[in-house]
Amino acid sequence: MSELDRRFPASFLFGAATAAYQIEGAHDEDGKGPSIWDEFCRRPGAISTGETGDVACDHYHRWPEDVGLMRELGLDAYRLSISWPRVIPFGTGAVNERGLAFYERLIDELLRAGIRPFVTLYHWDLPQALQVRGGWASREVVPAFAAYADLIARRLGDRVKDWMTLNEPEVVAYAGHHSGVHAPGIRDFRTAILVSHHLLLAHRAAADAIRARSSEAHVGIALNLSPCDPATASEADAQAARRMDGSLNRWFLDPLFGRGYPQDMAALYLPYFVRARELEGYDGSLDFVGVNYYARRVVRASGEGPLLADRVDPPGEHTAIGWEVHPDSFRRLLVRVHQEYHPREMYVTENGAAYDDVVVNDRVDDPARVRFLERHFTAAAEAIAAGVPLRGYFIWTLMDNFEWAHGTSKRFGIVHTDYLTQRRRVKASGEWYRALIAAHRDSGVEAAAQ
Ligand code: FCB
Repeated sequence: MSELDRRFPASFLFGAATAAYQIEGAHDEDGKGPSIWDEFCRRPGAISTGETGDVACDHYHRWPEDVGLMRELGLDAYRLSISWPRVIPFGTGAVNERGLAFYERLIDELLRAGIRPFVTLYHWDLPQALQVRGGWASREVVPAFAAYADLIARRLGDRVKDWMTLNEPEVVAYAGHHSGVHAPGIRDFRTAILVSHHLLLAHRAAADAIRARSSEAHVGIALNLSPCDPATASEADAQAARRMDGSLNRWFLDPLFGRGYPQDMAALYLPYFVRARELEGYDGSLDFVGVNYYARRVVRASGEGPLLADRVDPPGEHTAIGWEVHPDSFRRLLVRVHQEYHPREMYVTENGAAYDDVVVNDRVDDPARVRFLERHFTAAAEAIAAGVPLRGYFIWTLMDNFEWAHGTSKRFGIVHTDYLTQRRRVKASGEWYRALIAAHRDSGVEAAAQ
């Protein structure tokens, strides 16, 4: 593996990520309340395969085996999310002790296995009871999220030090409230902008709540970021790419780093109403920024839509979900976030690829994923060499799981899930990762011994 292991500092964390709704199942067990995804999946046509996450990987029952798999892979860290309606079934008020106990057991087991838990509070499964009251479009969600964060920090903060408030607020806002391809399936641009604002306020309120409970907490957020490249050399395409960058990247990064909303975007969105002044004094004070990266965006000017910009699908290599493979954009992105925003620390909180994996003779050979990971880890190593304070990397994802609107049809795991039997098989990419982590550990030991 071309000495790839030696290109990461000894303290670097090699991890994998998952999200509650995508793996847990047990959608109505032990007092869990319904989430917007439980509701959304039941709408005809919402999920391409007609499936729900009712069972998913059945992780709620199989977590000991799954932690065993992580141990077998040698993971240093594991990024998981907590299902808000599992611990507060109606979003506010009564706490479900049985739901909390699940996460306490899981975290204790991770710690026993020597795996550092990185916990995301919100990976898209809003309690349905809050949606009925307006969901993220309602200001009420902000104190509700802070109270939830306070509960979790109070109950788990003695064992968990690394927190992410939100996963991909941009996707929550736009896939959930503009294109409507995610729960709650709303299609209204104005609502999407308002939601993005409430998400930023909720992040700040939750970060404050966690820090108030746990002085050792290390609080970040996981953002989906991508370089936006113009499709041609025309000035119109360059401007369109700049607007796409404003909407996808700067709209979240700028406020989180205390700069308020980007001026050009605030002007563009003015007709849609933004309470920009409320962000004054918002310094974000992030301990780290988490970057979820899958592909760059190639953009051309368009006469339609609020951004007057369209995505174009460039030629070249793509994964099974249709996303371009472009590792150099990953390096560029990491370097840019470091140079423009100077975060104290950075993590890759998600990166990975979907391929059409099949079991042959009890094995899953996924050379395309191995290649994808090799190239992206190399890009991350180049970013580190360029000075990026990257502290860890979480592969999306530990095991094949419920891929939102695609159901179980898209496999991103380094472990294969057989959904009929719930059998897990480590793929060749999982073996590759295990070897990388083991080599890194050995080279770290050598370095320490020198
Ligand atoms: C990200 C999500 C994650 C997974 C990957 C493929 O946008 O955060 O849950 O679906 O994409």
